[in-house]
Amino acid sequence: MSGDSLTAPEQISPPEASDFISDVIAGLSSNPRTLPYKYFYDERGAALFQKICELPEYYITRTEIDILDRNRAEIASHLGPNLELIGLGTGAGTKTRILIEALETPAVYIPVDISEKQLHESTANFRKIFPDLEILPVCADYLQPVVLPSPHHKPARNVVYFPGSTIGNFEPDEAVQFLRRVANVCREKGGLLIGADLKKARDVLEGAYNDRAGVTAQFNLNLLARANRELGADFDLDQWRHRAIYNSDAGRIEMYLISESDQFVYLDEQRFHFRRAEKIVTEFSYKYSPEEFSALAGKAEFEFAQMWTDDARLFGVFYFVVRSG
Ligand code: AVI
Repeated sequence: MSGDSLTAPEQISPPEASDFISDVIAGLSSNPRTLPYKYFYDERGAALFQKICELPEYYITRTEIDILDRNRAEIASHLGPNLELIGLGTGAGTKTRILIEALETPAVYIPVDISEKQLHESTANFRKIFPDLEILPVCADYLQPVVLPSPHHKPARNVVYFPGSTIGNFEPDEAVQFLRRVANVCREKGGLLIGADLKKARDVLEGAYNDRAGVTAQFNLNLLARANRELGADFDLDQWRHRAIYNSDAGRIEMYLISESDQFVYLDEQRFHFRRAEKIVTEFSYKYSPEEFSALAGKAEFEFAQMWTDDARLFGVFYFVVRSG
């Protein structure tokens, strides 16, 4: 994301495709073996993630929505009137809708999303619900520098909204780098409203990532299926098993695909040998205490303003302001 603005009335065109094949080959050649989590979200992966969000064990989505809902007036008063709200990966917009409905005369909403289809649908929907709000969609990968459009209305401040605890999927150092770029976009008097998953009992965490219906397993295995579909790899899906564990020392869920047998996989004329029980790391999902998360944001020039949470303190919705001076 860039702090620069560019006058651009509408930017709904997809970003350039990233290099799936070279990322897969690099990941499978590394030690430990990895597959980048960003490739989870093809059409099937996005549909599976949607199902995950509705699972009884996956408390994250419903808890975040509930926190927003119960605290909407207080959150809106912290954010203030006449805002430029920049939504990162806000998807269908369920949470953003709650927020915008509570805001006092928001000036402009800029949703940034990599999924062209999702962005088209949610923009059309939001234009119906909020006919007086200026909406400037940007189809982009917010992990890369993004040029934001200039609104017609001059806002009082910029607030970036980053829901869903996606920040937990970044390595902490990457999270700080990313939040520094966000702080640049917020500039003076700006703020960041962000969801982060909190530390909690191992069984709750491991249950959320090893659901009984096996949807998270399908989501994880879809990475291999996608490599088969798009890259002509020959992963035998019956020979791989999903598993997620909580590494309490590192404070993160670690998601793996585990080889059920000694096997070879062919991809792009290369042969990869996997021993039985060998793992491919597919995702980390960091969990923070409120203090740890505030310290992380503090490294990116953000000052803690407020945190809203649920009764069981499962999830935190944090508001940070850009440190002045
Ligand atoms: C998108 N992200 C916040 C999810 C998480 O909880 O880390 C991705 C996910 N992976 C498995 N289940 C959900």
